[in-house]
Amino acid sequence: MALRKKTLVVGLTYDLKEEYNFKKDDPPDANAEFDHRDTVESIKACLESAGHRVVKIGSVRNLIKRLNSLSVDIVFNIAEGACGRNRESEVPVILEMAGIPFVGSDGLTLAITLDKVISKKIFISENIPNPAYFEISDSFSLNGIKPHFPLIVKPRFEGSSKGLNEKSVVRDLKSLKRQAMWINRVYRQSALVERFIEGSEFTVAVIGNENPQALPVVQIRIDRKTSMGALFYTFSRIHSNSLDYICPAQITKRFEDKLKEIAIRTYRAVECRDFGRIDIRVDKDNNPYVLEINPLPSLSREDVFMPIAKYLGISFEEMILKILKQAVDRYGL
Ligand SMILES: Nc1ncnc2c1ncn2[C@@H]1O[C@H](COP(=O)(O)OP(=O)(O)OP(=O)(O)O)[C@@H](O)[C@H]1O
Ligand SMILES: [Mg+2]
Repeated sequence: MALRKKTLVVGLTYDLKEEYNFKKDDPPDANAEFDHRDTVESIKACLESAGHRVVKIGSVRNLIKRLNSLSVDIVFNIAEGACGRNRESEVPVILEMAGIPFVGSDGLTLAITLDKVISKKIFISENIPNPAYFEISDSFSLNGIKPHFPLIVKPRFEGSSKGLNEKSVVRDLKSLKRQAMWINRVYRQSALVERFIEGSEFTVAVIGNENPQALPVVQIRIDRKTSMGALFYTFSRIHSNSLDYICPAQITKRFEDKLKEIAIRTYRAVECRDFGRIDIRVDKDNNPYVLEINPLPSLSREDVFMPIAKYLGISFEEMILKILKQAVDRYGL
């Protein structure tokens, strides 16, 4: 008799763009990290394609309401959370407390990586190359630092290119001050100021736990250019069609291996689980710099996991099930 594959009841936690309640003084990109309904339905369909039953839970508030009566084997979590720099940890920490297995990194990793300053301190201690930086909080002071321009000014704990626009790259003190104060005021957090890396950009997805594997490297193209020089991702670019993903990246095998090695070291340094995505910028002399690691990368069909699946010759369903499998194996379900 053929062995039947075990099917599971999989809870799905997520935040929908349309359910975000804009608060007074919120910037227009306040709900940028949240998912479109299509993404949630697509993940649900992928899980169901393998016979799993999916229970849609939604946001952290819904999870709390349903926690005592929830009967699931595992939760597939893509929730971005409600507020503050610990927001991505809200769902994982509650699931951990309730003893419910979940896909993806735990609360500690999610909080550390959302806060780019804390993650940079870890990168530095682990010899992971990253752009030189300093921080500016509400009382503007350079504390004796002599800035080397060009610099990029970004919010300390936001994703989805929130707070990034054409004015984010600054070339003089006056613009630096103006942009940092804008981040302080509008995003209510300190500004992370980094050396602006001119060159090209890549993103590397990693899957696994004990022996994490880097998937084929994806190269970012802006306005059809891969040598982007001073071009970079902005919030409005993500929402236009000026940005696209090339997989496989047009680079030598040797350089691809180097990027993969850095990605895996970054993944391990912050103890990422099951899957993640590392963004890397490369300067004109081919020196790579890790910009950030996303342990909760977008699983939208428009995002990077789709071109990677295509290149690997697997379906998007298989890609999502591969991610689920990492967690299932980790918990021994
Ligand atoms: N130091 C830098 N040098 C050059 N470009 C940068 C630098 N930091 C950020 N960028 C550009 O801004 C984009 C967004 O930056 P970053 O990845 O730090 O923020 P994010 O909002 O967390 O990103 P995501 O959109 O991936 O969630 C990068 O993909 C890159 O194009
Ligand atoms: Mg990024």
